[in-house]
Amino acid sequence: MTNKSLAKAPADTCILVTGGAGFIGSHTCVELLERGYSIVIVDDLSNSNAKAIDRIREIAGIGPSAEDQARVVFYEASILDEPALERIFESHDIDAIIHFAGLKAVGESVAKPLEYYWNNVAGTLVLCRVARAYGVKNIVFSSSATVYGEPAFVPITEECPKREATNPYGQTKSMLERILTDLHIGDPEWNVVLLRYFNPIGAHESGLIGEDPKGLPNNLVPYVAQVAVGRLASVGVFGDDYPTPDGTGVRDYIHVVDLARGHVAALDWMGGRVGTGAPSGPDAIAAEPAPCGSRRGVGVFNLGTGTGSSVLDVIHSYERACGKELPYEIKPRRAGDIAENYAACDKAREELGWVAEYDLDRMCADSWRWQSTNPYGYEEA
Ligand code: UFG
Repeated sequence: MTNKSLAKAPADTCILVTGGAGFIGSHTCVELLERGYSIVIVDDLSNSNAKAIDRIREIAGIGPSAEDQARVVFYEASILDEPALERIFESHDIDAIIHFAGLKAVGESVAKPLEYYWNNVAGTLVLCRVARAYGVKNIVFSSSATVYGEPAFVPITEECPKREATNPYGQTKSMLERILTDLHIGDPEWNVVLLRYFNPIGAHESGLIGEDPKGLPNNLVPYVAQVAVGRLASVGVFGDDYPTPDGTGVRDYIHVVDLARGHVAALDWMGGRVGTGAPSGPDAIAAEPAPCGSRRGVGVFNLGTGTGSSVLDVIHSYERACGKELPYEIKPRRAGDIAENYAACDKAREELGWVAEYDLDRMCADSWRWQSTNPYGYEEA
């Protein structure tokens, strides 16, 4: 079946967002709606909350009219549930998929490899099989800088060799990049964008959506946020003897709203709206259709800021955001951590026309707004 064309205005385009109730997914849904797209969200809520869907509607100003309501449809379903996916593709004229759904905790993946390979790899295969049957061969995939392992060099360009991941979570990202690339090789109608995220933090400026980890946070900023709000006593800094300026680990933190906009840019790229010299506003395609309807190929892009920040930089920036000192203590290094990684972002700038706009202080200020107004995330205290 011929692939769906993305060479049309966002207002006529419907995007399936798997994992759309999650942290990055929910922010991407907001950006898609603001650009005029309609969205269908599939999420099994295993690590997210249905309240995020209401908040997405609220931020995007989705009203009670049938026309507005049709722009955001939510299904509670797993991507492993093939009959459920078939019903969704049957009911909606989906043009492209942004695929976030997946398990993402590095440590947990070591203890539960079967769950990780099954959900992430088998789930994506089921999704692609159903999509193909309905002629949808446009997919933007949530990959990760984890595919570079201990990077061969920094800043990390997309040419940096992929290295063996040290945990099943990272393996699934690497494998899925390969699988999706092979889909295109086997059938060039598949358009694939692999977005390698660095460290997404922050929250929507409204304070209505943000990161809401279940249990003890694994990642730095959610942990710092819970110390700031009084849920946890002190931040553990994992190692201060790395070969970095202050001895603590350096990462490329990126505002989740910037990251979300990178996904919208990826759709523009697939639809031939950027990188061709064509105008890139919402109506650009209507004004100047891309020659072949959509761009065919596999695009690989780093999404980061290009700036590295240390663990102590993050803690101090968060202190400025919340207006108090945050207790921390130096702990041993965490197994599997690398000293430093940050992105070279030239390719995304040149080909997607995308750059990250927000700095670390803005990321922490927005994270704090979310955390302080929703101290227990989407759950009531
Ligand atoms: N850190 C602490 N204390 C904490 C948590 C983290 O000091 O409580 C440090 C880490 O040692 C590291 C930095 O803060 O130096 C960032 O750690 P995160 O856990 O927030 O992020 P990672 O860079 O380890 O992990 C991220 C993503 C993963 C991805 C990985 C590799 O969360 O999904 O990058 O790209 F696999």
